Amino acid sequence: MAPEEAKQRIDSLTAELKQHNYNYYVLAQPTISDYDFDHLLKQLAELEKQYPEYADPESPTQRVGGEVTKEFKTVKHRWPMLSLGNTYNAQELLDFDQRVRKAIGDNFEYVAELKFDGLSMSMTYEQGKLVRAVTRGNGVEGDEVTTNVRTIHSVPKKLGAGNYPDFFEIRGEVLMHRKAFERLNNERIEKGELAYANPRNFASGTMKLQDSAEVARRPLDCYLYFLYTEKQIFKTHWDSLQAVKNWGFHVSEHTRLCKNIDDVLAFISEWEQKRFDLSFDIDGIVIKVNNYAQQQELGFTAKVPRWAISYKYKAERVETVLESVAYNVGRTGAVTPVANLKPVLLAGTTVKRATLHNANEILRLDLHEGDSVYVEKGGEIIPKIISVNPEKRNLDAKPVAYRTTCPACDTPLIRKEGEAAFYCPNDEGCPPQIVSKMQHFVSRRAMNIDGLGDETIETLYQHGFLSHISDIYELHNQADALKQMDRFGEKSITNMLKGIEQSKAMPFEKVLFGLGIRYVGETVARKLVAHFKTLERLQAATLEELTAVEEIGERIAQSLVEYMSGEVHQQELQKLQQQGLQFTLEEAEVVLQSDKLAGKTFIISGVFEKYSRDELKEVIEKNGGKIVSSISSKLSYLVAGDNMGPSKLEKANKLKIPVISDDDLLDLIG
Ligand code: IVH
Repeated sequence: MAPEEAKQRIDSLTAELKQHNYNYYVLAQPTISDYDFDHLLKQLAELEKQYPEYADPESPTQRVGGEVTKEFKTVKHRWPMLSLGNTYNAQELLDFDQRVRKAIGDNFEYVAELKFDGLSMSMTYEQGKLVRAVTRGNGVEGDEVTTNVRTIHSVPKKLGAGNYPDFFEIRGEVLMHRKAFERLNNERIEKGELAYANPRNFASGTMKLQDSAEVARRPLDCYLYFLYTEKQIFKTHWDSLQAVKNWGFHVSEHTRLCKNIDDVLAFISEWEQKRFDLSFDIDGIVIKVNNYAQQQELGFTAKVPRWAISYKYKAERVETVLESVAYNVGRTGAVTPVANLKPVLLAGTTVKRATLHNANEILRLDLHEGDSVYVEKGGEIIPKIISVNPEKRNLDAKPVAYRTTCPACDTPLIRKEGEAAFYCPNDEGCPPQIVSKMQHFVSRRAMNIDGLGDETIETLYQHGFLSHISDIYELHNQADALKQMDRFGEKSITNMLKGIEQSKAMPFEKVLFGLGIRYVGETVARKLVAHFKTLERLQAATLEELTAVEEIGERIAQSLVEYMSGEVHQQELQKLQQQGLQFTLEEAEVVLQSDKLAGKTFIISGVFEKYSRDELKEVIEKNGGKIVSSISSKLSYLVAGDNMGPSKLEKANKLKIPVISDDDLLDLIG
């Protein structure tokens, strides 16, 4: 292929795959099969290898939902990962039951289980240790994602004592609970990142990430539903589920042993409504013939087992009328549209609102004023508009035009290139931004101020007590005025002032995170504080100095420089300093346990199974060693975990620096 042609092909494949990613992850409406997607992705990866100069830095081979992904090792499954046949009504299930009966007679039981809506995972344990985790892939081979799966708390990395075999494979579903999905997705919207369409897509996007530390930050769970062993050790599936629960695996308590298909049908109708009370999504019920010998007798078709089938619930869908589009302003000024609907009953609750995500979604739906819309309740608590009914549209209906000014302060909205969200830039004068910034500052993950909750902030703002974060630390001068207000008892005021005073001891990284600078989340704040150590140095940092810090990209650096150069921000920071908040890194005084590592320098890199990096750092420092930040010929040891960057390892090898494991480190200090 001529270079010209290669460039064109790379560009068109890139554009096509980006669109498919968007359709899948954001809209949840894929237009091609996973197989075809993978095929196109492989073509692109191949071309990029040959012509790296034409590769887009944001290429779909590197990213999903804007995040860096990894090319994982392909591993063949020891037992293929099959899918299940689907049924959609009682008759189809009765037909399945007939087929089973015909093959094995009447003497059998079923196990009915929830059908978790996540991504399936196969995990191998040897001598009680998790050695491998592989995605389903095409059923024959999948991606090895062990390091990422190790971050899931409910997946045991090492089993305690028990009667499990030396080697076994266990299968289950990795999923994200709805609450976590909503919190993390809202954070993404606030940061101008792409929002995922549903918890399943968020979980599967997460599993593909290169950075396991980021995976660890996203709470995933895993329910196990099938055990494979070399020799058969249980007679029934039910017994195996009870056993694996005792070995320490997460098995759903909502699993039922059923005597016959009527029991199964009762279980199905019971969960038709109850599923909405679960903290995660299910999309149906799976039924399995309980006895392993009978499972063997029934066998498989080319694609699916004859001893199991799934029953899929219909996504409940109703038609209603779009009354208006409202706009919410978030902490960072991101403006998100919400559809106000004519109230309608859906899946047991009255629905009045639906998310619209962003301006692109309004265009995708081709939403017009007064449209009749189809609303579905998938996993999310807030339902979604799936499509409009064009037949009921008024001839003179106008397309919904996205607002051009802020709904709260009327400032013209802006949209940065490549971002989905519109922003209100008036961060100092826009009421909802001011209030939610203060609410963020006092929140548990930031300054964690007891006695000062969201509602109190709102009220104090409305009564003119608060308009900047620094005003919080002046409230003690206003105790008398506060007492005059409704619902403000003496005790709650004392509590609040005490909480505020105590928060002055919170470390610099919490203060920096609490300021709510766009793109500066908890991890970024921690990294910045560890690197610059004082506010003065951070304020003086240039774009180049900022991007030189690990994990700080152009976008974050730009945002920081903009924030620090704002006059109002500078005054605010000065006030907060005078009020006694922490703006320097308190280096913990290290009490030496030994001097076995005195004079030795270390770099810790990668992810470790048993210890966090901070724990290893502490061990080194307590034994007289020193942590340094860059590899040089003077470095004594590189402590390497999983997923370490290859360039670091290469450099260490070149300089002949000993590369040791976490266990080797502990051996060094005995
Ligand atoms: S059993 C041969 N049990 O559904 C046995 N699968 O449509 C196959 N799933 O790929 C799996 N909950 O990802 C089984 N309780 C459950 C399940 C379940 C969800 C998923 C799984 C599988 C897909 C098949």
